[in-house]
Amino acid sequence: MPAPNIDTIVSLAKRRGFVFPSSEVYGGLGSAWDYGPLGVELCNNVKQSWWRWLVYERDDIEGVDSSIILNRTVWKYSGHEATFHDPLVDCRECKTRLRADKLELPSDTAEGADVVNLIKEKRVKCPNCGSTDLTEPRPFNMMLRTTLGAASADDDPTALAYLRPETAQGIFINFLNVQTTMRRKLPFGIAQVGKSFRNEITPGNFILRTREFEQMEMEYFVKPDAEHFKLVDEWVEQYMEWFVGLGLGKENLSLHEVPPNELAHYSKRTVDIMYRYFPERPDEERQWEELMGIAYRTDFDLRSHSNKPADEEGKRINPDSTEDLSYFDEAIKQRFYPHVIEPAAGVNRTVLAVLMDAYSERTNEKGETRVILKLSPQLAPIKAAILPLAKNKPEIVGMAKAVKRSLQPVLRAVYDDTGGIGKLYARQDEIGTPFCVTVDHQSLEDEAVTVRDRDTWEQERVKVSDLAEHLQKKLKP
Ligand code: GAP
Repeated sequence: MPAPNIDTIVSLAKRRGFVFPSSEVYGGLGSAWDYGPLGVELCNNVKQSWWRWLVYERDDIEGVDSSIILNRTVWKYSGHEATFHDPLVDCRECKTRLRADKLELPSDTAEGADVVNLIKEKRVKCPNCGSTDLTEPRPFNMMLRTTLGAASADDDPTALAYLRPETAQGIFINFLNVQTTMRRKLPFGIAQVGKSFRNEITPGNFILRTREFEQMEMEYFVKPDAEHFKLVDEWVEQYMEWFVGLGLGKENLSLHEVPPNELAHYSKRTVDIMYRYFPERPDEERQWEELMGIAYRTDFDLRSHSNKPADEEGKRINPDSTEDLSYFDEAIKQRFYPHVIEPAAGVNRTVLAVLMDAYSERTNEKGETRVILKLSPQLAPIKAAILPLAKNKPEIVGMAKAVKRSLQPVLRAVYDDTGGIGKLYARQDEIGTPFCVTVDHQSLEDEAVTVRDRDTWEQERVKVSDLAEHLQKKLKP
C-alpha cells in the first residue's frame, strides 16, 4: 500500500528529519526544501546506486562533474537562450502567474484547439480564483540569471551568466576531452549528477517541481546510422528495471510517448517514464507526472557547439567555439558528429517516488497503527539500529555501543536508548531501517544478539562475531 497522497510524505518527511521547508525561520521560501540527516542519506544512496549501475557496472560509461555556471555562449548555441521558455499567463483578477500549457481546458474542447483562442474567448478559468480575465500567453525564459565579477552592475550584459538548467550541456562541451583522454570508441556514454536550476512559473507539489533540483543525466553517443528509436526503447526498458530494483511498484510506473508538437527543441523522440504521484485523483489520467525522460537528441548539441561557418542546411553557424566536436571513425575512415540518446532523471523526483512507494501501515496486536517505510535496503538511510533492552544496565549499554562501533566501518549504524523497546522499533520502522539489533541479558552470556526484520517483524539470534557479515549479506541489492 503506497502513500495515499504526497501530503502524507510531506508530514512524515518533516517529522522524521528527511526534508524540511527551507528558510523556515524567516517564513520559508516558496517551493524550496532542505534535506535533513535522513534525507541527505537517502539522496546520496539514490545517486550512488545510479552511479554504480551506470559507471561502475557497465564498461561503456565515464563520469564527469562540470561547472554549474558555464560560459554564457554555451546557452546561446545550445538553444536555451532562444527557446527555453514556458508560456506565461497572468490572472488579472488575483495576479496569479500560470503556465498556459498546464491550464485546465473546458471539457468540450475540440482536439487540437488553441489555448490562446480559448483564453481570448474567456473559456479558460484561473485555477486560483475562477476568473476568466487572463492575459494572452507570452514566452518566459526559465534560466536563472546571475552576474559575474565584483565590479559588475546588475544590468551589465557582459557580466550576465546563467545557473545551468540541465547538466547535459556540461557533458557535451567536454565530449572531446573525455573521448580523447579515455581513448573511447563509439558507442559510449558520459554520466553526470548535479544541481540544475529553473525559474519555474508554477513550482509546487513538495519536491516534485522546485527551482533548484538535482539531475542524473547520461549522454550516450552513437553512430549516425544507429537505430536511434530502438535505442530509446532499450534505455526505457533498462531504467524501468532500475526503478523496480529501487522498490517502485510496476503498477505505479507508466510510459508516455511525447507527441511531436511537444518535443524539446533538440529532440526527435522522447519517452517519459511516469510515476503515479497523485493516486488520490479520481481521474486516472491525472495521477501521473514525469519521473524522467529518455530523448533522442540527434547530433544537435555536438554540431551546435562546433566551430563552423554553416552546416549543410546553412544553419547553426558558430564562429565562437574553438573546437570541432566531431568524431573520426578509424574503421571506416570517416568523420561525423555522434548522435545522442539521453536518459535524464531527477534525483528529487526519484526520492519522492521511492518514499511514496515504500510507505505502508501495519496494525500491531494492541491495535495501534504503525507506519513502516519499506525502503529497499540499499536506499535506507540507516541500515541497522542497535538497541539495548535495559538502558539502566551498564554492561548491556556498553556491549550495545561496542556492537554499534564494530559495525560502523562496514555499514551505517545508530545507537538508540531513548525509549522502551516497542517505541524504538516503531521509530526505526518509520524511517525504513531494515534491521534492529537488540542486546539483552542473555547477550552478556552467549555473545549473541537478536536481529529483527523490519518487514516481517521476525527475529533471529546471531553471534556478534558473525553480525557484520550476516547484515551485509542481507543488505546486498
Ligand atoms: N537534459 C534534458 C532535461 O533536462 P527534462 O525532462 O527537462 O530533460 C529531466 O529534465 C528530469 O529532471 C525530469 O524528468 C525531472 O525528473 C527532473 N526535473 C526537471 N525539472 C525539474 C524541477 N523543476 N524540479 C524537480 N525536478 C525536475
